[in-house]
Amino acid sequence: MPAKSMDELVSLCKRRGFIFQSGEIYGGVQGLYDYGPLGVELKNNLKAAWWRAMVYDRDDVEGLDAAILTHRLALKYSGHEATFSDPMVDCRACKARWRADHLEGKCLACGSTDLTDPRPFNLMFRTNVGPVDDGASFAYLRPETAQAIFTNFRHVVDATSRRPPFGIAQIGKAFRNEITPRNFIFRVREFEQMELEFFVEPGTDEDWHKFWVDARVAWWRDQGIPEDRLELLYVPADELAHYSKATVDIMYRFPHGLEELEGVANRTDFDLGSHSKGQDELGLTARVETNRDSNTRLAVQDTDSKQWVVPFVIEPSAGVDRGVLAVLNEAYRVEELDNGSSRTVLALPRHLAPIKVAVLPLKRNHDGIVETARRIKQDLQRLGLGRILYEHTGNIGKGYRRHDEVGTPICVTVDFETLEGDQTVTVRDRDSMSQQRVPLADLTRFVRDYFAEQG
Ligand code: GAP
Repeated sequence: MPAKSMDELVSLCKRRGFIFQSGEIYGGVQGLYDYGPLGVELKNNLKAAWWRAMVYDRDDVEGLDAAILTHRLALKYSGHEATFSDPMVDCRACKARWRADHLEGKCLACGSTDLTDPRPFNLMFRTNVGPVDDGASFAYLRPETAQAIFTNFRHVVDATSRRPPFGIAQIGKAFRNEITPRNFIFRVREFEQMELEFFVEPGTDEDWHKFWVDARVAWWRDQGIPEDRLELLYVPADELAHYSKATVDIMYRFPHGLEELEGVANRTDFDLGSHSKGQDELGLTARVETNRDSNTRLAVQDTDSKQWVVPFVIEPSAGVDRGVLAVLNEAYRVEELDNGSSRTVLALPRHLAPIKVAVLPLKRNHDGIVETARRIKQDLQRLGLGRILYEHTGNIGKGYRRHDEVGTPICVTVDFETLEGDQTVTVRDRDSMSQQRVPLADLTRFVRDYFAEQG
């Protein structure tokens, strides 16, 4: 059973150090969140899982990490300057501003129906680059990571000799001045995206589109979100983004309702074509072969026919923050125990857990136990699984409960038996709550095998 409400998740996230409202000590900033000690681990683990699946497990994808501040012209020719807007209305009574499609004819703050007509509000943040603020030297904070993949297309192709089908993957921050950020980290103004632009031959695009929708649903399943918790939405033609021929939204049942987790778009040759046109209009032809017309600046040459072809692009674009929210929601459960009490558990897949193993000494003032526990922590840390935590809580039962709540898959307890008896430690499993004694000499192998079992 996932969380019953967003409040349950928000409260867990704050209490246990996953996610905090940004600038809270000064009253907070709407639509901005900070990831705390456990949140940063979970988020990094989710991004690492994406990178493994999209780059390392494939042989046809290259990575990129481009600048966030983006050349104004890149976002002019991408179409974002002209079209990346949401319809905004003002309430004449209380002056609140809303996204028109989030309202049903009345102001959500005061209930007034005295609203202005909707008008477009561009969502891109602008900033000034360099010391001169003459109105012309501005750059945008990128609203999607994708554009830098298109503007670096030529460089990556030249450097790697790739030919379609191949992809360029990127994970990074994106910024949108959302009119009404809401639902915790679901709709925020600063977020992260995991985007793949997969370049294919025109005519093969529809098959690749289907391939990527299936591949992405399978990936979410591996992150603990089963297929029956997702729905595919084939976006109607009149709601498609300006660059898209077809988009399938992968929808997840968040605590506030069924909403988009990831979009998989067929962007056709729109972006490479637009940037080619931009280069042409601006006379930026110096680096371009003379036998190519203006539509094929960002193209690849077919090795057989020698024709220049502008690839089509299939784009699976997932939000990291929405991913974290979905993963947390799916893993959250409150279990009734036989003794009448209950426990909160985050049943996260092992590879996503912020802390992999907690090593707990039974006595915090016993030199031998403490020393052995610290040595175990160091040995396990060297396995490279992620964070191993040594923690002297004093109360082992409470320690187990706390680690259940943050999703730690196993706790290792060091006691007198470890030192003086049969040289074993207690290994306690989060999900079954079962405990077993494992010989100290076998512990490293046991932990390595345990994490190898599930990805
Ligand atoms: N490059 C394509 C693109 O940006 P999008 O559907 O606008 O498409 C892709 O965004 C993903 O980014 C969404 O599916 C969502 O997960 C995430 N996303 C978009 N806006 C967001 C916001 N304001 N807050 C959090 N995540 C957001």
